[in-house]
Amino acid sequence: MKPLSDIGAAVIGSGFIGTVHIEALRRIGVTLHGLLGSSRERAGEQAARLGVRHAYGSLKELLDDSRVEVVHVTSPNHLHYQHVCQILDAGRHVICEKPLAMTSEESADLVRRADASGRVAAVNFNIRFYPLNQHLREVVADGALGEVRLITGHYFQDWLLYPTDWNWRLEPERGGALRAVGDIGSHWLDLTSFVTGQRVSEVMSELATFIPVRQQPAGPVATFSTERAADTVAREIRTEDAANILLRYDSGARGAVAISQLSAGRKNSLQYEIDGATGAAAWDSEQPAQLWLGHRDRPNEILFSDPALMSAAGRTAASLPGGHVEGFADTFAALFRAIYADVSAGVTSDAPPYASFADGHEEMLVGDAVVRSARSGRWELVLRTERPAPATAAAASLEDQAR
Ligand SMILES: NC(=O)c1ccc[n+]([C@@H]2O[C@H](COP(=O)([O-])OP(=O)(O)OC[C@H]3O[C@@H](n4cnc5c(N)ncnc54)[C@H](O)[C@@H]3O)[C@@H](O)[C@H]2O)c1
Repeated sequence: MKPLSDIGAAVIGSGFIGTVHIEALRRIGVTLHGLLGSSRERAGEQAARLGVRHAYGSLKELLDDSRVEVVHVTSPNHLHYQHVCQILDAGRHVICEKPLAMTSEESADLVRRADASGRVAAVNFNIRFYPLNQHLREVVADGALGEVRLITGHYFQDWLLYPTDWNWRLEPERGGALRAVGDIGSHWLDLTSFVTGQRVSEVMSELATFIPVRQQPAGPVATFSTERAADTVAREIRTEDAANILLRYDSGARGAVAISQLSAGRKNSLQYEIDGATGAAAWDSEQPAQLWLGHRDRPNEILFSDPALMSAAGRTAASLPGGHVEGFADTFAALFRAIYADVSAGVTSDAPPYASFADGHEEMLVGDAVVRSARSGRWELVLRTERPAPATAAAASLEDQAR
């Protein structure tokens, strides 16, 4: 096992989320060698602002830096595939932001490439790493709620409420054919599958675009910006503002999720409720230190995030004692600790708690079914093809034994 300070990393993109990656890397003690942006000049400005020692001029230059073992991809969605291909071809470990790719063809190819590479390849579904979500997954698997029957909830934001709100995510060429579902619905779907251990088998969906024309500012816009530009161009919008999706799971469980980026007052509310045969649980990302536990025959409970009261996985994800609320940025540190433990060991652990490329591909396949259902007006299956076993720690040890 290599100490984390001996592992070198670089980050592509230093916008909203690239900045969070950089801060979390510093917190866990990995050595950050530099960042790459849309231009050397822009990257240089960001590096100076964030105190990063170097700005690379190109991905080739970054990959020529032999100190860099792990590359974080936080560029806009349309660049993920090409960036990840080059990173894996160069023999580096990779942590890619969600959604993994623009299409399921791309994400399937990335799964194949990651499996063949033997490198650690993770997708940044960070919400799994709120300590209470890690805790709940373990206790649901132990039967705390009984058989899971209903998985319901929403993911609501309001930052695209007005026709003057703009971001690259609105352009299908840069964000993908699905917008609200790909951008935030993918988090809900990944999280609820992670917590319950259930896989979506069929969907029935409706997509809605309430704002068919938006005003695009002539200049660049930062993600979540609330500034209004005077100079704008009218743009037709071809991606959904909101979605309603009914879900059927392999196990027979049922679900429903509403997704919207124009729900006034909901800044970043991912909410789920899981109803089982003997109990229920509910959580909201705007109150992340509280887990509601529902009972039929005794008073309901609120579990406050506290390492002393959570399962082993919950304790591992927590950095602070109970009562010291951990938030969005803390989940990145917890997630990176789990990923870099595998990087340090040089191999992907069996059933890692973080999302693999296969998990990232899974959300692309569910997205495909959502698009097909919205067009057909019918239930649509999630179409999967089985893949060869990936290179995991167990596979590596079996190979060692065979030698
Ligand atoms: N996990 C999460 O919770 C979460 C939250 C926000 C965004 N994201 C994902 O992160 C990615 C970035 O989102 P964002 O909100 O930070 O966007 P952003 O627009 O704020 O930042 C994008 C960054 O990419 C850089 N970039 C653009 N073109 C580039 C190129 N050719 N080469 C290198 N860098 C380039 C830009 O300079 C900018 O620094 C998206 O895929 C998004 O889905 C994930």
